[in-house]
Amino acid sequence: MTSQEQKLDLIYRIFSPSAPIESPELFVGRYKELEKIKDSVEERGQHAVMHGTRGAGKTSLANVVCSLYNPEYVWTIKVTAHHNDNFKTLWEKTIEKIKISIPQRNIGFKNIETEKIVSIDFPDKDNISPSDIEKILSTFENYLLIIFDEFDSIEDKETKTQMADLLKIFSDNLPQITILIIGVAENVNELIGKHSSLERCIKQIEMPLMSKDECIALIFNSLKILEMDMESEVAKKIVEYSCGYPHYVHLLCKYSAKDAVSKNQKMISLKNFDIAVCESIENSDQSIKTSYHTAISSYAKTKNQFEDVIMACLLSETDEKDSFSPYEILENFNHLTKKSLKVDSIHYNLGMLCKKERGEILQKISQTALRYRFKNPLMKAFIRLKFHEISNIPK
Ligand SMILES: Nc1ncnc2c1ncn2[C@@H]1O[C@H](COP(=O)(O)OP(=O)(O)O)[C@@H](O)[C@H]1O
Ligand SMILES: [Mg+2]
Repeated sequence: MTSQEQKLDLIYRIFSPSAPIESPELFVGRYKELEKIKDSVEERGQHAVMHGTRGAGKTSLANVVCSLYNPEYVWTIKVTAHHNDNFKTLWEKTIEKIKISIPQRNIGFKNIETEKIVSIDFPDKDNISPSDIEKILSTFENYLLIIFDEFDSIEDKETKTQMADLLKIFSDNLPQITILIIGVAENVNELIGKHSSLERCIKQIEMPLMSKDECIALIFNSLKILEMDMESEVAKKIVEYSCGYPHYVHLLCKYSAKDAVSKNQKMISLKNFDIAVCESIENSDQSIKTSYHTAISSYAKTKNQFEDVIMACLLSETDEKDSFSPYEILENFNHLTKKSLKVDSIHYNLGMLCKKERGEILQKISQTALRYRFKNPLMKAFIRLKFHEISNIPK
């Protein structure tokens, strides 16, 4: 392998836009969230629920938590839930991963102690109750952290209630066990339902998008391993365009670094970045690309106004629910296009962008007043890249 090939190989391993982080070396930031998980493990009888938007970095954090604990002190088990899982299948998968060591005294002159690793038997019956799981784990004295990732994908409603009952049982009777439930949701209730008896024993952990500092740390931590550098203007653009999504930081860094290495540069420049933007658009999620193209598609050769409406959405201030007001969109649209569209027309356009025929790019959310947001939050970053690409096409 040439040194250039080796570097490219390293780029592919360091930047993983589509896979969660496995190694703590490549993981940046999230100190507050890590601290909260540590607190839940250390506080007997405490559990945690981590919720956040897709792509915020929840699975990466769970992976890193697992590798940070020494199994001699805290055993960690991570189970990824699937849509057809239920209480029984989830626990079957969990118990399968638990191995206990039993000291063995050998027969002979010397009393040498060895250990035998055995797995725990799972009861062979159709209905498994929370008390069955309590019974199985009651022999286990170690600190145990069990993580259920992608809990939101479970369709069986009964599982949530049974899991909530089990958390309470663990808190009361097996306080050395901590359960961490992770999923895409706006709050804890959405993930496991509302259970007032559980309020005191559950720590809520909201996984925010990455801060600017965390994005910068991600960029330069990775480049240091690659022995490369980046012009500060490029790093600033990557942070701005990624809108807090580490997926896009990885994507833009990967293609910028790849282009620089192919040209034997150690320093990543704006020219490499321009190429990376096109590559990142090309390699973005297919559903995002389809939704965007459906939204702006036009039979005529000239562009329709949906492209400008979408840009006006992007430029609008968002609230804590990531939503924007039609009045601000209208103001931005008129400023951008030098037109004087009326509020009814903007409502019509925004309504269309919520429909299938326009890619369902937006979603209505009704609070006191009607507001809109991007249905897939990652769309924001994609649109930024699109507009960078469009503004760079020679006129
Ligand atoms: N703390 C982090 N440091 C570096 N990269 C991260 C971090 N968190 C997430 N990522 C990257 O962001 C992307 C999405 O992360 P992931 O953990 O799969 O998110 P989620 O589980 O919330 O959907 C992946 O490419 C992952 O490698
Ligand atoms: Mg995940």
